[in-house]
Amino acid sequence: MKKSQTDIFNDHFFWKFKAPNAGQLTSYINSLDSCEEAPWGELCSVTNISIQEDIFDLMTPSLTLLGQEVGLSMTMNMNRPWVSQYKRGDFQEVHDHNDCDLVGVFFPEYKEGYSKFYFIDRSVNLKRPLMDIMGNRNNYIVNYSAGDIIFFPSHMLHGVSKHDHDDTRRTLSCNFWINKINRQFSSAG
Ligand SMILES: [Fe+2]
Repeated sequence: MKKSQTDIFNDHFFWKFKAPNAGQLTSYINSLDSCEEAPWGELCSVTNISIQEDIFDLMTPSLTLLGQEVGLSMTMNMNRPWVSQYKRGDFQEVHDHNDCDLVGVFFPEYKEGYSKFYFIDRSVNLKRPLMDIMGNRNNYIVNYSAGDIIFFPSHMLHGVSKHDHDDTRRTLSCNFWINKINRQFSSAG
């Protein structure tokens, strides 16, 4: 039967790729030591390292790759990034970062039992029977591996499941503001 369904208004998406300087990012994250209670820690169980120095250069290779992916370059800035640290049983409640444009999260490593990073579709208004009929889900688990970085729009709800491993899990998060979009038009002859 011919498909008659048309999907419209898609505003939930993300990019995932291996950070070109994954080794450098991982070494940097592992070199940090002073952890404190996360400032948003009321509803979650995670400790936090607020990065004081400017590490924009460390993010540039991934931002360049992102620009290539979407076919343009962007002039951006970011505020103070942070490392979230998860010990066994730690998790992060569902939240967004809607005071910025774009969020980046780098995953230095993954082992069986490590927390999962997931998105929740904030736009779902369908009632359960129609969700079942259409096979819709309102959550999506990101299948990440060591060295991956993801970028996603800041309005997207996301969370981190309970960490089920004795090794400490760390991730690096950055908020970005897009100041200027430099469009690159190809001159196909
Ligand atoms: Fe977050």
